[in-house]
Amino acid sequence: MAAAATTLGRLGGAVVSVPDPDASAGFLETALGFEIRPLDGGLQVVCAGDYGESGQAALELRPGPETGLVELVFEVGAGYDLGALALRARAAGLAPEAAGEEVAFADATGIGLRCVRAAARAVAMPAADGLRPRRLGHVNLKAADPGAAARGWEEVMGLMLSEQIGEALYFLRIAREHHNVGLRPGPRGELHHLGFEVAGWHVYEPILDRLAALGHRVEYGPGRHTPGNNIFTYLLEPASGLRLELFADMGRIAAGAEHEPKRWEAGDRMTQTLNRWGPLPPESFLA
Ligand SMILES: [Fe+2]
Repeated sequence: MAAAATTLGRLGGAVVSVPDPDASAGFLETALGFEIRPLDGGLQVVCAGDYGESGQAALELRPGPETGLVELVFEVGAGYDLGALALRARAAGLAPEAAGEEVAFADATGIGLRCVRAAARAVAMPAADGLRPRRLGHVNLKAADPGAAARGWEEVMGLMLSEQIGEALYFLRIAREHHNVGLRPGPRGELHHLGFEVAGWHVYEPILDRLAALGHRVEYGPGRHTPGNNIFTYLLEPASGLRLELFADMGRIAAGAEHEPKRWEAGDRMTQTLNRWGPLPPESFLA
């Protein structure tokens, strides 16, 4: 079977509930340059993506009492076999719902996942903006049993384990980019952060200066993580508390190579994985 029939295309976006979508969208537009578009029941947050002529519908903000993940959306190519995905989900004891060009289900830990044909989800490219984050590259979320969630996502969705820290943090990838999903212990639906790729080291200065001019301070960073080797800066969207990571330089894993997932011990987290440059995060980040 061709790889395209079973390999997800890319992380398409996240549907997130926030108490005040207008306020959250206002920050994302003013402080970070995202384009906001109206949507039935919510707001769509658009960036350029790496999709050629169409943009990325990176976020859907829906009103809800608490900030949290509603579902993750993966996009698949024209050759992807959505029927086979539904069969694998059913074989794993899940209850997939197939409709047209998409299959949706909750994983074994209750996390909502949706796989959609990319062409059915294409959105118009936003106006050029060199400082706007390019794309949603990964989502780091909580699961009651992150190990079980990671194994299920490997089995049903074909994601691959890149690296893990003890039994508490799993980094999974779709193809070559080091991770597109991070799973850690915690209440289902809670997000740790949404990882948006920026153009490179040089744009942190103007982005963080603009944030400062608007009265916002970062929560943690800049620094460099060991897993993925990416540069990071984290900030909290003030209306919802949603944590955003602005990342650059994410590592890639060679195509076709046998990759033995790197495993750290739990005690390595603070000393070796969080920040190669030194400063450790505030307590708020570790919750
Ligand atoms: Fe991240």
